[in-house]
Amino acid sequence: MNLPNMLDAKVRGKSKVQYIQQEPLISNRFQGKKYFIRTYGCQMNVHDSEEIVAIVENLGFTSVDVMEEADLVLLNTCAIRENAHDKVFGYLGRLKHLKREKKDLLIAIGGCMPQQSSVAEEILKKHPYVDIVFGTHNIHELGRMILEKNEKQNINVYSIEGNVYENVMYKRDSSITAWVNIMYGCDKFCTYCIVPYTRGRQRSREMAQILEEVRDLKEKGYQEITLLGQNVNAYGKDLEEPVSFATLLLEVSKIGIPRVRFVTSHPWDFTDEMIDIIAKCDNVMPYIHLPLQSGSSRILKLMGRRYTKAEYLELFEKMKKRIPNVAITTDIIVGFPGETEEDFQDTLDVVNSCQYDGAFTFLFSPREGTPASKMEDETPIAIKEERLHRLNELINSYSNQKNQEYVGKVVKVLIQGTSEKDPNKVYGYTETMKLVNVVASKDMIGKIIPVLITDAKSFSLDGKMEEVVLN
Ligand code: SAH
Ligand code: SF4
Ligand code: F3S
Repeated sequence: MNLPNMLDAKVRGKSKVQYIQQEPLISNRFQGKKYFIRTYGCQMNVHDSEEIVAIVENLGFTSVDVMEEADLVLLNTCAIRENAHDKVFGYLGRLKHLKREKKDLLIAIGGCMPQQSSVAEEILKKHPYVDIVFGTHNIHELGRMILEKNEKQNINVYSIEGNVYENVMYKRDSSITAWVNIMYGCDKFCTYCIVPYTRGRQRSREMAQILEEVRDLKEKGYQEITLLGQNVNAYGKDLEEPVSFATLLLEVSKIGIPRVRFVTSHPWDFTDEMIDIIAKCDNVMPYIHLPLQSGSSRILKLMGRRYTKAEYLELFEKMKKRIPNVAITTDIIVGFPGETEEDFQDTLDVVNSCQYDGAFTFLFSPREGTPASKMEDETPIAIKEERLHRLNELINSYSNQKNQEYVGKVVKVLIQGTSEKDPNKVYGYTETMKLVNVVASKDMIGKIIPVLITDAKSFSLDGKMEEVVLN
């Protein structure tokens, strides 16, 4: 048994990152058995689940959509806010009942939650029916843990700086769009954030390995890839021979996949070179997710974000000026400890200046072990909620307005599947990442087609395929 330790998770020593080639573990032990997986959290977790799925399918399991029919239930969890935590423990209640009826059921929990000492201990003490607990550093050990499972609960979570595993097998959710990790972990330690503790130090993959993966995806016919990292613009700084994100982006672009995206950009370190490459490469999409977190320079300082309101606005303007038609979205935290009405007005002020295409807004959630969780916070929750409401109204009015501007225009849409709302339609995304429900034949799935936008809603657009050829 290995329990995590938040103090160890904080350490950023001088040890070198190990680049380890992984070998797949293949067995037919679980032939005929079914697995069910549930994923919470960010794109990293969504992509990690593609690895988890490959691991369990290599043991013979096949997928099932109904949890009650599964022999193995996997939860890939997120620790970013308290409500993510509550959801998982709520779900565990259901699993506990299921296990009473189905003694052979295997339950495995992984992801960011077990990386928190308190969660691992809670599972150990209060949830003995959970069979396997693994963390973000040892996904590759999951196959072995399942094969070696005995009567005892197996908790194996490490608080280490972290290495880079190559040759990872993924069972990708889509044959049209794919995630590509370019780096793992985070060294920024924003004072509210748990990620540097749950994911370890920043470690970049070597550029050659990334390019090889992208070439392989191109050969397989993928139309879009998204380069993944908590701070993509810090990519390569930790490599023995440093490479910039701008260089990586240019090299990836040259491989010629029709659409290249990346998440997430930190406003700190966003260089002019990056902006130029996004502007000049046709297949690098004009869409940037640029988290603001707060518009108040005072709060930004307390958050450890290392930019001011003025610097953020300057960067934003530069992007808008240099990248034609760029769409920019953001993340904002409301109610950080000590946030006053004046600070909040600064946030509204930035939103009014930037008129974002969209935003994810969150109430501050204290995370155990982070500096912000110990900061004095006297603002009543009712006031925070009221601020969040005001912010959401403003954000929605701008995203609605942005969507309205599309009506009557013809845009390129990558069609990804049948529309959930209307089985007679297909859906896809514009270059600027707007969701569009399109009247077009299902044969268009996997293709980039011209679409005339006929209507705009708050969170999506409607359109129909145009019979013109776009250049
Ligand atoms: N690496 C990204 C963010 C990843 S977490 C970046 O630096 O921008 C995704 C979002 O969750 C963050 O942008 C932030 O807005 C939000 N978040 C993180 N910690 C939070 C907390 N303790 N309370 C509320 N929201 C939080
Ligand atoms: Fe968290 Fe900050 Fe790292 Fe983003 S940059 S993952 S918010 S610590
Ligand atoms: Fe959540 Fe971990 Fe991602 S905490 S947001 S799943 S990095």
